[in-house]
Amino acid sequence: MKLTEEEKKTALIITRQILKEFNGNRGNLIPVLQQVQNKLGYVPPVAMEEMAAHFDIPAVDVYGVLTFYNQFRLTPPGKNQVKICMGTACHMRGAHTIQEAWERRLNIKVGETTEDREFSLERVACVGCCTMAPVVVINEQVHGKVTPTRVDGLLFSYQLDKQQTKEGGTE
Ligand code: FES
Repeated sequence: MKLTEEEKKTALIITRQILKEFNGNRGNLIPVLQQVQNKLGYVPPVAMEEMAAHFDIPAVDVYGVLTFYNQFRLTPPGKNQVKICMGTACHMRGAHTIQEAWERRLNIKVGETTEDREFSLERVACVGCCTMAPVVVINEQVHGKVTPTRVDGLLFSYQLDKQQTKEGGTE
């Protein structure tokens, strides 16, 4: 997914501001990643390169740390954020199969956003509705007892909403 020049510029400015607060000790890499993620909602390559230069480490090492932890995103979140619960109850009831179904259907991996920026996919810890496991939360709306075959239907309903909003807007 391509970032706009504006997005890259903003990311660079914010990353530089945050890095000013930290010395070159490599132990500061994770707090910096967290702050960039909090401010931008994701950590783009341009930010990783800036961190690599600051901490004097290869950019691939920053990337390695970033992808090791689930909490970080590489791309901006989509308009519709699909969160797959990976808590114990959901895990036991096939959350991984649900994740694979979403990944296949949207043609992206967890942590990514579709090219049209409509959907992004992430994994979250227990959302507190364990009796409904496996659970998927889409834009704060909780969907329980999700099966791989229901993924198409859920996706369709959000695409339909978008279409209706569009049609409503042109009337
Ligand atoms: S484990 Fe998924 S809602 Fe609790």
